[in-house]
Amino acid sequence: MAAESRKILVTSALPYANGPIHLGHMLEYIQTDIWVRFQKLRGNACTYVCADDTHGTPIMLKAQQLGMTPEEMIAQVATEHKADFADFMVEFDNYHSTHSDENRQWASEVYTRLKDSGYITTKVIEQLYDPEKGMFLPDRFVKGTCPKCKTDDQYGDNCENCGTTYSPTELIDPKSVVSGATPVLKESEHFFFDLPQFETTLQSWITSGSLQQEVANKMKEWIEGGLRQWDISRDAPYFGFEIPGTDGKKFFYVWLDAPIGYMGAFQHLCNSRDDLNFDDYWGKDADAELYHFIGKDIIYFHSLFWPAMLEGAQLRKPTNVFAHGYVTVNGEKMSKSRGTFIKARTYLDNLHPEYLRYYYAAKLNDKIVDIDLNLEDFALRVNSDMVGKLVNIASRTAGFITKRFDGKLADGIDNPELLAEFQAAKDAIAAQYEGREFGKAIREIMALADKANAYIAEMAPWSLAKQEGMEQKTHEVCSMGIHLFKILMTYLKPVLPEMSANVEQFLNTELTWNSIDTVLTGAEINKFKALIQRIEPAKIEAIVEQTKAEVAAEQAKLAPAIELEQNDELEKDPIAETISFDEFAKVDLRVARIAKAEHVDGAKKLLQLTLDLGGETRNVFAGIKSAYQPEDLEGKLTVMVANLAPRKMKFGLSEGMVLAAGPGGKEIHILNPDDGAKPGQRIM
Ligand code: MSP
Ligand code: ZN
Repeated sequence: MAAESRKILVTSALPYANGPIHLGHMLEYIQTDIWVRFQKLRGNACTYVCADDTHGTPIMLKAQQLGMTPEEMIAQVATEHKADFADFMVEFDNYHSTHSDENRQWASEVYTRLKDSGYITTKVIEQLYDPEKGMFLPDRFVKGTCPKCKTDDQYGDNCENCGTTYSPTELIDPKSVVSGATPVLKESEHFFFDLPQFETTLQSWITSGSLQQEVANKMKEWIEGGLRQWDISRDAPYFGFEIPGTDGKKFFYVWLDAPIGYMGAFQHLCNSRDDLNFDDYWGKDADAELYHFIGKDIIYFHSLFWPAMLEGAQLRKPTNVFAHGYVTVNGEKMSKSRGTFIKARTYLDNLHPEYLRYYYAAKLNDKIVDIDLNLEDFALRVNSDMVGKLVNIASRTAGFITKRFDGKLADGIDNPELLAEFQAAKDAIAAQYEGREFGKAIREIMALADKANAYIAEMAPWSLAKQEGMEQKTHEVCSMGIHLFKILMTYLKPVLPEMSANVEQFLNTELTWNSIDTVLTGAEINKFKALIQRIEPAKIEAIVEQTKAEVAAEQAKLAPAIELEQNDELEKDPIAETISFDEFAKVDLRVARIAKAEHVDGAKKLLQLTLDLGGETRNVFAGIKSAYQPEDLEGKLTVMVANLAPRKMKFGLSEGMVLAAGPGGKEIHILNPDDGAKPGQRIM
C-alpha cells in the first residue's frame, strides 16, 4: 500500500461567519468528510482543511446589529461552527479562520505577485454611497422599485418578481438598507484582477483535467461570453485585510482572501506538523493532489478566478473542483416558515448524526443535482437499512457466540463462496467512493446486507441451536454472520465512524481496507451491544417544531412588532448574573391558596398567612401589611417559595415566602397565577 500512497489535500467551502450551520451546509461537509475518511481508510496521506469565512460587509453589519465587534462575533461563531462539525463527526485536520496571520500573509503575497506580474489594474468607478452611514453600498444593501415591472422593495442586483438583472443605479427611488437614506453616486478608485489575460490557461485547465461535465460546460459558456476584469477592492469601512500600500483606505474584497483561506488553513497546519511541507502541496510543481468540494452557487469563483489567481501568482492549480447540488427538504427549498430551514444544532438536539450521514451518503452522486431530504423517507430508509438490515445481521448471530461459544468465533467457514463474494465487492465499492458515487456504493453494500440476512434466515441458527449434533454448524453459521458484518462495517466506515468504532471494539480489531480479506476465524470477540436505535417519527416532528420556534424567536428579536413600555426599572435594578437551569430548578415554587390572613400583634410590617398547598399548610410571615388588608387576601391564589429553609422570627416560625414585586410601602404586588392553577402545583 505504501508504494501507491497518494498525497491529497482536500477542502470544503469556507462557511460564512455570520450565521449558524444548517442541514444544507451539512451536505457538503458530510460529503467531503466521507471522501476524506475513505482516502485515509485506504492508506492515502489525505489532509482535510477548512476555515470560517470571516470578512465582508454582511459580517461587519451583522456584528454592528448585535452590538459586538466583528472580532467578537466571528470568535463566537467559530466556536459554534466547530462544535456543529465535531458533533456531526466531520473530522478536519485543521479548522482555521480567514481572519488569521497566515491568511493575511498569503493574501498580500498573492496580491503582490499578481501586481508585480502586471495582473492588477486600477480604475475609478462610480458606486452608490450611503451619505448617512458613510459607506459604499453593495448591491444587496440597496433596495428600490424595479425599473422594469415597477415592483417595489427589490434588491439592487435583480428583481425577484420579474427576474430582470440591473445595476443598483437603475432602481427607482433607491434606499440604503443600512440607514434608509437615499444613496448618492460617488467615485472611487478600485483595483481589478485582469482575468482576460488567463483565457488560455483556463481553456487548457478545462481540457487537461477531468472536470465535471457541468462545470466544463459552464466555464466554456462564461469564456465565450467574454471574461471581464474582476473588482477585488472595497473601500473603508470594511471588515477585511487592508490592501498593502493603500494607507488603510482599501481592503481586499472578501472573495479574494476567502479561497486563499484554504492556503492559510493549510499553512497554519504545516507550522505545527513536521511531516507536511507547504510547497509540496501549493508550489508550482507540487506533486500532491488538490480538491475543492463546493456547492453549485460558487463554481464561478472556484473555476475562473481561483485557478487564474493561482496561475498568476506562480502557484499550482487545483487538480479538480467537485461541485454538488443544493439540499431541498420535502421537495422544496429550505424554508423558515415551513420549519425546514433546519440548523445543524437543532438536528443534533434530537437525532444521532450518523442517521443524516447515512441518508446523505445514500443520495449523493458525482453530479450537480439537488438532493432532497424527505423527512418521512429519511426515517423509513434509516430504520429499514441501518437497523433492519445492517445491525440485524450482528444482533441475530452475536448472542449465540457469547452465550454458547465462550465469545469465540468458529475455526471453520460455513460458506466460503458467500464470504468471497463480499470480499470481491471491494474494488467496485472503492471505485464508487473514489468517484463520489456514494449512493451507488450504499446500494451495493445494502444488496450484500440483504444477502447476509437471507443466508441467516435460511440457516436459521436459532433452530439449529436446538438440534442435536448441530453444535458446530450453529457455531460456524453465527460466525459467518459476524464475518460478513465485519466486511459491511468496513465498507461503511467512512460514512459511520462512530458505529464502526463500536464494531471495532466489539470485534477486537481495527477495520481497515486491507483487513477486508482477513477473516476472524477462531478470534475472540466481545459482548454485542445495541449499536443504534430506530428513528422515532416524533423526533422529526420535534425538529420541525423547534425550527419554527427558533425562527419566530429570531424574528421577534430583529423586529419587535409589539409596543414596549418605557420605564427605568431595569436601570434601577439590573438583571442579575445568568444562572443555569439546574440552579433555577433548585427553587421549588408552588401555587398556594391564602387560607387565612391575620394581623400580628406588635408587628408594623408583617401579616401572618396560612397557605394551603392542596391539603398541607404553611405558616408564613410576609412584609406586606403596608399594601394589603387581611380580608383582601383571603381566598386568593399566590406563589410561594416552598423549599426555603424555615426561619425563626420574633412572632413565630416562618415556613417559606410569598413572591411579590415593587419597592415597598403601598407599592407591593403579590403574584397571582392565572385562572385554573391549583394549590400545590409546581411552577416551572
Ligand atoms: N463563504 C463562501 C464560500 C467561500 S469558499 C472560499 C460561502 N459560504 S456559505 O456559508 O454560503 O456556503 C458554504 C458552502 O455550503 C457552499 O459550498 C454552499 O454551496 C454550501 N451550501 C449552502 N447552502 C446549501 C444548501 N442548501 N445545499 C447544499 N449546499 C449548500 O459560499
Ligand atoms: Zn421587476
